[in-house]
Amino acid sequence: MPKLLTILASPRGEYSISRALAAEFTAAWRDKHKEGEVIERDLFQTELPFVDLPWIAGAYTPVEDHSPAVAEAISISNELIAELFAADYILIATPMYNFSTPAILKAYIDHIVRFNLTFSASYEGLLKGKTCTVIIASGGVYTAGAFMESWDRETSYLKMILGFIGISDVDFIHAGGSNDVAQGKVKQQDLVASFIPSVIAAVE
Ligand SMILES: Cc1cc2nc3c(=O)[nH]c(=O)nc-3n(C[C@H](O)[C@H](O)[C@H](O)COP(=O)(O)O)c2cc1C
Repeated sequence: MPKLLTILASPRGEYSISRALAAEFTAAWRDKHKEGEVIERDLFQTELPFVDLPWIAGAYTPVEDHSPAVAEAISISNELIAELFAADYILIATPMYNFSTPAILKAYIDHIVRFNLTFSASYEGLLKGKTCTVIIASGGVYTAGAFMESWDRETSYLKMILGFIGISDVDFIHAGGSNDVAQGKVKQQDLVASFIPSVIAAVE
């Protein structure tokens, strides 16, 4: 039974462009994989502490040496990594903040990039065979040829870090232009609708 893991990183609920497009993607994926299972990882419903000293101890010492505090600190990381290994398809739906990933998504990444679990000592990514789609919602437009294109540090970073842990089959959908919604020039549903064909086309 194929599994889709959807990772949601916008705090904006019903106003979120990335969440609306994630819902479209998920509906199209369910249509294609009738027997499939969808696991939703909403980062705003997840306690995601920053990496701290007990976490580092947990990541770099054998399990049998973990104190209760260390075991507790590393448990969310273990859970998130197990979820990724169990998934065949991954969807990341995220805003762009300050030309990069929102801090909550970076906090998630810090939990899932783990020595000997998701990358090896020889820097081989260990999460093989996954198909990943990334939807990036932004106020500006960063598609090829747009004047802000070179300011986008989110696409290159996500591509690199996902590849580092072995997820190399990644499609990006740039859902830019929500500044026009904020300024009342375009309706939210019209902006969302304009990206639905590319979202549906990305479903494998
Ligand atoms: C703190 C913050 C930083 C932002 N930084 C950028 C930015 O660097 N570039 C950009 O185009 N839009 C930026 N935006 C706008 C968001 O990317 C835009 O509202 C997007 O639609 C958010 O995704 P969502 O609709 O899924 O919540 C920023 C918004 C916030 C709240």
